[in-house]
Amino acid sequence: MKHSVRILGIAGSLRKASYNRAALRAASGLLPEGCTLDTFDLSGLPGFNEEFERTPPPSVVDLKKRIHAADAVLFSTPEYNYSVPGVLKNAIDWASRPYGESAWSGKPAAIMGASVGNIGTARAQYHLRQMMVFLNMFPVNQPEVMIGNAAKRFDSDGNLTDDDTRQHIQQLMVTLVDWTWKLKASPAS
Ligand code: FNR
Repeated sequence: MKHSVRILGIAGSLRKASYNRAALRAASGLLPEGCTLDTFDLSGLPGFNEEFERTPPPSVVDLKKRIHAADAVLFSTPEYNYSVPGVLKNAIDWASRPYGESAWSGKPAAIMGASVGNIGTARAQYHLRQMMVFLNMFPVNQPEVMIGNAAKRFDSDGNLTDDDTRQHIQQLMVTLVDWTWKLKASPAS
């Protein structure tokens, strides 16, 4: 089936009540038919230590395996001090090593993010895009899903209640699936 794309979702927050985890849950209900979205929880990853990049802990082995098995990656990032949270950068660093054995290389990707501020993680998202240049990932450019004022868009149980945000996430999922198939069809990918 053309649309059976397996997406790995990664939220850059460890908080149980995280808006970014909630956004990933919302995305899993807005996928094109036949697609799947599994999530990887970053809470089990230790801090990166280059000494262990060739003998990584089991949680890192699992992360790399899950990235390899996925057709595409969906990041939902908070913004911490105008950038991506350390836990997300830490996961990116682990899975990018050792040099030449990055799990990210060549992966189609999509980015979204939720914050309590107005700007909706724009600055963090552009930092993440910048990393993707070196990681050799292929993010979709649009739509840019920046969920500002998140407290107004999710209810107290973490359900997405805002129709515009739902439409944006749905459009991002459709675009990611199409993009993934375009890259699969391309001899260079
Ligand atoms: C924040 N927050 C924040 N928000 C924002 O829009 N821009 C920012 O630069 C920051 N910086 C920042 C730093 C730190 C250390 C914390 C803890 C928080 C607020 C942030 O948007 C809010 O905590 C979100 O709810 C975090 O996302 P999750 O955990 O709900 O997914």
